Amino acid sequence: MRKLIVAGNWKMNKTNTEAVKTVSELKELVKDVKNVEVVVGVPFTALSDVAKELKDSNVKVAAENMHWEEKGAFTGEISPLMLKDINVEYVILGHSERREYFGETNEIVNKKVKSALAHDLKPILCVGEQLEDRESGNTEKVVEDHVVGGLKDLTKEDMLNVVVAYEPVWAIGTGKTATPAQAEEVHKFIRGLIAKLYDEETANEITIQYGGSMKPANAEELISQKNIDGGLVGGASLIPEDFSKIVKSAK
Ligand code: G3P
Repeated sequence: MRKLIVAGNWKMNKTNTEAVKTVSELKELVKDVKNVEVVVGVPFTALSDVAKELKDSNVKVAAENMHWEEKGAFTGEISPLMLKDINVEYVILGHSERREYFGETNEIVNKKVKSALAHDLKPILCVGEQLEDRESGNTEKVVEDHVVGGLKDLTKEDMLNVVVAYEPVWAIGTGKTATPAQAEEVHKFIRGLIAKLYDEETANEITIQYGGSMKPANAEELISQKNIDGGLVGGASLIPEDFSKIVKSAK
């Protein structure tokens, strides 16, 4: 059964103290939500205490990145074992900001996706085009490159634990949200790609989130689209009231 998943991506925001306070407010606001999986992606420094604060709640925890190795000389990196040890369930991978600022390629993202699955973490694979890609008519080409590259070597069984997040880069943090029609067109394309890579049944099972200036005012119309199964929310997820409104608008 395809799940509706609304996840927050806090990026590089909130100290550990602020993070625990925010999620303690959020869990109360969404405690009666049953039809949507609620996830918060928080900075590494807050993961452990946030996971403890959310332990008996319906809110899951995501890391915003991870290395693909279990241990070793990778200064500053975080391993999947470290995330599992503190009850992290999801990990956001291949976000456009990591591709752009930290040179993450499809090959690196694929290594991380496979490692996350190997350690029972659920990857949220981010894909999406830049404004110049869209303006030059290359949206599907770029999205296909990210999807095929990110999912390389995954089995059908693996796919059932993967979430794909379509995030048009030109909509991230800009307030220029994709229209529901624009977003649905790419979501439908992604689902068709997965049907070709695997089969229709698998394609219909997986959750495809939209990300890019999703707000309380536009969330319901976006998530009501046939192939949009939730959101990956940046700015609005930092505010418990706003994020909870987005969660509750998912039906
Ligand atoms: O990963 C979600 C993020 O990129 C979207 O950010 O602030 O446009 O909701 P925002």
